Amino acid sequence: MRSKILWTLFILCLVSSFGLNANAKKISIGVLGKSVHPYWDVVEKGMKDAAEKLDVDATFYVPQSEDIAKQIETLEIWIAMGIDGISFAPSDPDAVVGVIKKAMNMGIPCISNDTDAPKSGRLCYIGTDNYTAGKIAGDKMVEILNGKGKVAICTGSLTAMNSLERIEGFKAALSQSPDIVIVEPVLVDYEDTARAVELAETALLDNPDLDAFFGVYAFNGPSAAKAVKTAGKVGKVRIVCFDTTNEHISLIEEGVIDAAVGQKQYFMGYLSVVLLANMARVGVENVMMLLPKNEEGDTIIDTGVDVVTKDNLKDYIKLLEKWGVKR
Ligand code: BGC
Repeated sequence: MRSKILWTLFILCLVSSFGLNANAKKISIGVLGKSVHPYWDVVEKGMKDAAEKLDVDATFYVPQSEDIAKQIETLEIWIAMGIDGISFAPSDPDAVVGVIKKAMNMGIPCISNDTDAPKSGRLCYIGTDNYTAGKIAGDKMVEILNGKGKVAICTGSLTAMNSLERIEGFKAALSQSPDIVIVEPVLVDYEDTARAVELAETALLDNPDLDAFFGVYAFNGPSAAKAVKTAGKVGKVRIVCFDTTNEHISLIEEGVIDAAVGQKQYFMGYLSVVLLANMARVGVENVMMLLPKNEEGDTIIDTGVDVVTKDNLKDYIKLLEKWGVKR
């Protein structure tokens, strides 16, 4: 299935480049992310590389931290400017339903990236299968803890679908091991790094017998690592988390983070532009027709994940270099 999708996207790249017309108004695309973080810099890089290749204008915006109002405001501005296509990563899928429906009704194609909003009427989702990825993280945690221990979960959102699905998948994996206890409630920092570190430090103080952290978002792993280092508990409190920024890679090298589920966010940015540029050039229906649908009739482009540990770190770094992600 994945090779079929990639083949289709290759055809779309060709369609785009043949469709160039020097006199036509340049196509404008907006890509909306969730917070200022090196994770999102990679999405932006993917967006820019595709925009250059396909000769379109692409704008990237992320709020400082989780900010649903700012996301909606940005979408409204882009709609008012008459943008040709939108890719959005909603911090709250329900809150964006109105604005996305408005854009779609005005003929502006919208697709979601990184985290979905199926009820918004968006055309497709490009990103990680978050439930499965959460389950993969959970299986890794069970393996690292040998099926026994106390785990705290840290996240940046309790509304974004990617966070909720990762937690659900993680808990499903742990439910197979009755000797693993999850500390409730889940710690939420609203994508604010300072708050994430504070919460991890407090969790260590409140639970002197804590065995591990699960970091749901990109800054949760490094924030937990900072707290674990400060408490002098490296190797005693284990860390499984999402994402593979340079900070994660260094912490895996150091042995502070045990495992990271690496997302392929470069492709979320890149493929958003490939699809939207083609929709503007050859029509939404002609592009959607080329993409496979799942059993529910929905179009999902699963960008996949890699599990990274000290053991496969060297090969993984080579992979990142191939994608142009600089260390
Ligand atoms: C998530 C994003 C989030 C980012 C930074 C990633 O794991 O996929 O939704 O904004 O972390 O926190």
